[in-house]
Amino acid sequence: MEILHSIFYLLISFSFFLSNPTLLLVHCQIKPISNDTQMQVYIVHVQKPDSTSFRRFKDRKEWYASFLPNTTLDSGKPRMVYAYRQAISGFAAWLTSQEVEAMKSTDGVLVAYPDSEYDAQTTYTPEFLGLNAWEDGVWYDSQYGAGQIIGVIDTGFKPGHPSFRDTDVNPPPETWNGSCYWKHSVCNNKLIGAVGYKHGRTVSPEDKNGHGTHTASTAAGNFVDDAHVLGMARGTASGTAPKAHLAIYKVLHITKTASTGTVVKALVSDTLRGIDEAIRNHVNVLSMSLGLEKQRLHADSIAIGSYAAITKGIVPVAAAANAGPFASVIANDAPWILTVGASTTDRRIRAIVKLGNGMELFGETAYQPEGFNSTQLPLVYPGVRKTQKTLNCLNGSMDTFDVKGKIVLCGVGHITNIEKGEIVKAAGGAAMILMNQPWNGNTTFSEPHVIPTAHVSFSDAWKIITYFNSTPNGTAAITFNGTQYGVQPSPSVAYFSSRGPSLMNGNIIKPDVIAPGVNILAAWPFEVGPKPNHTLPPTTHTFNFESGTSMATPHVAGIVAMLKNNHPDWSPAAIKSAIMTTAYTVDVNGKPIGDDSKPTGTPASAYAMGSGHVDPTAANDPGLVYDLHHQDYIHYLCGMGFTDKQVEAIGRGKVQCSKVRAISPEQLNYPSIAVYLSANTTEVTVNRTVTNVGDAVTTYEVKYDEPEGVRVEVMPDMLEFSRAGQMKDFRVKLSIKPGSPTVRMAGEVVEGQMAWSSGKYYVRSPIVVTMQ
Ligand SMILES: *[C@@H]1O[C@H](CO)[C@@H](O)[C@H](O)[C@H]1NC(C)=O
Ligand SMILES: *[C@@H]1O[C@H](CO)[C@@H](O)[C@H](O)[C@H]1NC(C)=O
Ligand SMILES: *[C@@H]1O[C@H](CO)[C@@H](O)[C@H](O)[C@H]1NC(C)=O
Ligand SMILES: *[C@@H]1O[C@H](CO)[C@@H](O)[C@H](O)[C@H]1NC(C)=O
Ligand SMILES: *[C@@H]1O[C@H](CO)[C@@H](O)[C@H](O)[C@H]1NC(C)=O
Ligand SMILES: *[C@@H]1O[C@H](CO)[C@@H](O)[C@H](O)[C@H]1NC(C)=O
Ligand SMILES: *[C@@H]1O[C@H](CO)[C@@H](O)[C@H](O)[C@H]1NC(C)=O
Ligand SMILES: *[C@@H]1O[C@H](CO)[C@@H](O)[C@H](O)[C@H]1NC(C)=O
Ligand SMILES: *[C@@H]1O[C@H](CO)[C@@H](O)[C@H](O)[C@H]1NC(C)=O
Ligand SMILES: *[C@@H]1O[C@H](CO)[C@@H](O)[C@H](O)[C@H]1NC(C)=O
Ligand SMILES: *[C@@H]1O[C@H](CO)[C@@H](O)[C@H](O)[C@H]1NC(C)=O
Repeated sequence: MEILHSIFYLLISFSFFLSNPTLLLVHCQIKPISNDTQMQVYIVHVQKPDSTSFRRFKDRKEWYASFLPNTTLDSGKPRMVYAYRQAISGFAAWLTSQEVEAMKSTDGVLVAYPDSEYDAQTTYTPEFLGLNAWEDGVWYDSQYGAGQIIGVIDTGFKPGHPSFRDTDVNPPPETWNGSCYWKHSVCNNKLIGAVGYKHGRTVSPEDKNGHGTHTASTAAGNFVDDAHVLGMARGTASGTAPKAHLAIYKVLHITKTASTGTVVKALVSDTLRGIDEAIRNHVNVLSMSLGLEKQRLHADSIAIGSYAAITKGIVPVAAAANAGPFASVIANDAPWILTVGASTTDRRIRAIVKLGNGMELFGETAYQPEGFNSTQLPLVYPGVRKTQKTLNCLNGSMDTFDVKGKIVLCGVGHITNIEKGEIVKAAGGAAMILMNQPWNGNTTFSEPHVIPTAHVSFSDAWKIITYFNSTPNGTAAITFNGTQYGVQPSPSVAYFSSRGPSLMNGNIIKPDVIAPGVNILAAWPFEVGPKPNHTLPPTTHTFNFESGTSMATPHVAGIVAMLKNNHPDWSPAAIKSAIMTTAYTVDVNGKPIGDDSKPTGTPASAYAMGSGHVDPTAANDPGLVYDLHHQDYIHYLCGMGFTDKQVEAIGRGKVQCSKVRAISPEQLNYPSIAVYLSANTTEVTVNRTVTNVGDAVTTYEVKYDEPEGVRVEVMPDMLEFSRAGQMKDFRVKLSIKPGSPTVRMAGEVVEGQMAWSSGKYYVRSPIVVTMQ
């Protein structure tokens, strides 16, 4: 290991530690400070006086404007950027920090924080999820999600792409109240609305990046025959809910930076505007593949907008982020959000590396040119120089190496894998072996490279480097073997999927679930690969493989659409509970789901996979649900120690925490359980309530696995239901077993699980105990 650590430097960007400074405004007219250059956009949450009611939005806007020193800047530009209606009670406006300070004395101002940026974080996945068009099942039962509107907050979409055709899609429900940016024939019954927001302006929602086209089609793309990427993974592509409607809100935009090249970012103010409009347009589900880690709940606009959504029965689904495998760098961790991590599937687009010593290693690539299958070619490793540049094949790293006709070894990181291929190609290399870093583990990508490539796992990279160091004239051959199914182990947690414990939500287990998020095939706005044809008409079948919790999120948004079609009376919390308690935790071989960043056979922790891998068919009929009313989260927020104003910024109604029954986080009626125990607090009892949504007359018996050193007692241990909708309370007492070495265990996290089992239904919750 030591040798390798010297070979692979830590080369990933830690931009996810960016903090979002928060100003709290606790206290009439503010004096303007005359200097536009010191202005920045702030998001200001305000509380309307009890006596006031706004009949028209114009009145609300005027009230918002009354908080501003005046309406324009020196340049004549309006100060008000957005006046929000639904997502928050408040606005985004140009202000100086001094003006914001002065607002402290203004009645009604709750919380304000500067605008910041959020990061953007299939032929096959419906089948992998157990969705099948030909049999009875959740697709059939839910009419493929018909009548449901999925609002996608992303980079927009590609007009005309066949995934967004409206063949066999009904007109949108009458409640739909959105609009289409284009006047004629772009939107249809599938893609019912589209709008873009950028820096306070309405802009075209056309996708120039691909991320939003990919996520939208993953959630609810229509069936497209003969979809493939460079000929790989050929099949019929479709979204998870292929008959649902899509409403597109473009808030993520491409920005170019000097240091990192092209990145996709969204301003918080624009994102909030997109969520605001989606709520107003009556979407049923929000799919949000963006976010920022380590945000405080009262200053996290996605959390606040999502709270507004659940009060309208809209289910917010959001990505956990891609900061794994490091602990506690996780986004969208509010308990009212369905937070999604990423897992692998059993499909690989195979590239085989055969080393000069005969050893065969399996890698991946989407680009498999006809007849390439190479002979043994010399290996060259610029990384022998042990600089960041040479280890990772950055531009210029091959200047002093003769790579012509050779296979170049490159570490993953710093720039995209495809860019590394471009650099190797420009230097005259014949092929590239992309080697995972230790923390990338076994997650490999099938990307549309521009040069023959094999992307290999860390353990295989280790073998290649060991071989390379053992011989002066190392060689390898790369051969391609196309699309392979049934690869084991699967599923497993992708190395990049963000992990808990969340440091912001009182130790509620996040992510909630994992879903397919590695090498997902979905619609793409243009051709990919070494020779993309840029003159293709927009209606061409163009697809791409993409990986990220961004890709996992729309799978779950599609599942939510199906559940909402089938169970229109279920609350957002009930839908979330159904998906969580029916998630599975063993892979196809019956072994615990693994973690790609850990040695094979290491089970993924609850902080990596939450309640487990989504199972739409089981979620359609969960038996029992852990329900919550949006008011319950107010009790939770008060119990977390937020001030009244902070809670009001989220809840938008008057709150006096001293008068509500504050609860500690573990008492929230959540479908998973996490508690702290210590030498001082040797036992904790959590209360839960389940609601019968299964067969009317059913008896459930408790089953549990105790976390190591912890006793679990569930009271009562049997629940008898006689009617649908019936609710039953139970208590779970978690205590340190007498004689357990609590001192040794301090800081340790131990896991167990409990389930209510009826024979037909199995309602499972993970249990995590953190020793303090
Ligand atoms: C508004 O305030 C700015 C200073 O921020 C000042 O320069 C400008 O003249 C004011 N505009 C009006 C219309 O009062
Ligand atoms: C405005 O602020 C900028 C940056 O702080 C400063 O350089 C500039 O001199 C200021 N201009 C005025 C008119 O105060
Ligand atoms: C629909 O939107 C229009 C404006 O676009 C608004 O006036 C109206 O109140 C909305 N209707 C509903 C039911 O929200
Ligand atoms: C490469 O070789 C494998 C078997 O060694 C064969 O199955 C495959 O078709 C070949 N691919 C190409 C592109 O020639
Ligand atoms: C590498 O650098 C050269 C020269 O600066 C530039 O022309 C080329 O586009 C760069 N290649 C990549 C892949 O960034
Ligand atoms: C390695 O290659 C060099 C140059 O091609 C050659 O001179 C040398 O003998 C080779 N070494 C071995 C051990 O084959
Ligand atoms: C190549 O693919 C074929 C067909 O999927 C499979 O039978 C064979 O085992 C593969 N070869 C290797 C070396 O994996
Ligand atoms: C690109 O696509 C267009 C339209 O399908 C076709 O006419 C043209 O020949 C293609 N160009 C190349 C280089 O393949
Ligand atoms: C990856 O897989 C290999 C072989 O399947 C295994 O030996 C290794 O422990 C796994 N984990 C990592 C982090 O490479
Ligand atoms: C446990 O109690 C002891 C003695 O009362 C105290 O010193 C210690 O700080 C407590 N530890 C925790 C984790 O609360
Ligand atoms: C849990 O329920 C028990 C009995 O139903 C009750 O006495 C206790 O106060 C409850 N605890 C909390 C934290 O709500």
